[in-house]
Amino acid sequence: MKILRTQDEIKKYSLEMKQAGKTIGLVPTMGALHEGHLTLMRTARKEADVVIASVFVNPVQFGPNEDFDAYPRQFDEDSVKLEEVGVDAVFHPEPAEMYPEGFCTYVNVEGDFTKKLCGGQRPGHFRGVATVVTKLINLAKADKAYFGQKDAQQVCVIRRFVEDLALPVEIKMVPIIREESGLARSSRNVYLSPEEKKAALVLSRSLNMAQAAYTAGTTKVYDLKKIITDEINKEPLAAIDYVEIYSFPALEEIEAVEGETIMAIAVKIGKTRLIDNVILEG
Ligand code: PAJ
Repeated sequence: MKILRTQDEIKKYSLEMKQAGKTIGLVPTMGALHEGHLTLMRTARKEADVVIASVFVNPVQFGPNEDFDAYPRQFDEDSVKLEEVGVDAVFHPEPAEMYPEGFCTYVNVEGDFTKKLCGGQRPGHFRGVATVVTKLINLAKADKAYFGQKDAQQVCVIRRFVEDLALPVEIKMVPIIREESGLARSSRNVYLSPEEKKAALVLSRSLNMAQAAYTAGTTKVYDLKKIITDEINKEPLAAIDYVEIYSFPALEEIEAVEGETIMAIAVKIGKTRLIDNVILEG
C-alpha cells in the first residue's frame, strides 16, 4: 500500500491510475479506524479498480470548543488495517499541506437542511466537511466516493454540493455498522468509560423502539419522537442534544411518516456526544 503525504504525490498517483484506465474509489476518514470505516473500504474494493483512503483530522470542520486536539490519532495502526482490507493507497497529509498559507476558498452549502440536526449544533461544521471532501475528490480524481449512513446529514450535504457544482463523482451511502450490543461504531466510543458505554446503548435502543412502534402502525412524528425521548430520559447519564424526524434526504419537517424518513438523534453521554439514526422506508 502506498502512503501519500503531499498534494503532489496523490495527484501524480491518481493521474497514473486514470491514464491506465482504472476507476478510482475514494474513502475519506479522520482515522482511528473501526469496522464502520473498514466496511466502506471493502465496499469500495468491490466496486472500483483502485481504492484510495484518506486519513486526515480536518481542522476546519471542528468548532473552537470541540475535540480537535483530543481526537484519536493512530496512523500506524490505521495503516495496518487499511493494508489488510486491500486499500491501494492512503493519503495522510498534515493540516499545513491541505491548508497552506493563503488558503481562503470554502465550499458552503446554504440550504436550510444544513442548519438542522448536527448543522444547527455545530456551526461551520459542514462548511469544513464540504471544503475538505471537495478537495479530496479532486486530488484523488475519484469516480466514486463512499460515506456512511452513520453521518446521514453529511451524505445529504455532500450529495447536494456534488450535484450543484457538477462534480463528476458518484456518492455512495453505506449502512451503519454496529457493535453486537447495538452501539453504532464510532471513533469517539473510545472516550466512553465502561459505565458510559452501557448507558450509550440507549441511543440504538430508543431508535429500535420507535422503529418497532412504526412497524406496528404508529406513524405520527409526535408519537415516535416521544417514544425516543422518554426512553433516553430514563437514562441518568444521557442528555439529549436533539431528537428529530424528517423526510429523507430533503430533511423537511413532516407530521407523519409517509415516504423515506429519518429518525436522527444526538445524545451526550457524560462529555461525549454520540449520534445515531434509523431510516424508515415509508
Ligand atoms: P469519520 O468520522 O472518520 O468517518 C469517515 C466515514 O466513515 C464517514 O463517511 C462516516 O459516516 C463513516 N462511518 C463512521 N462510523 C460508521 C459506522 N458505524 N457505520 C458506517 N459508516 C461509518 O465523517 C468523517 O470522518 C469526516 O467528516 C470526513 C467525511 C472524513 C471529512 O473530513
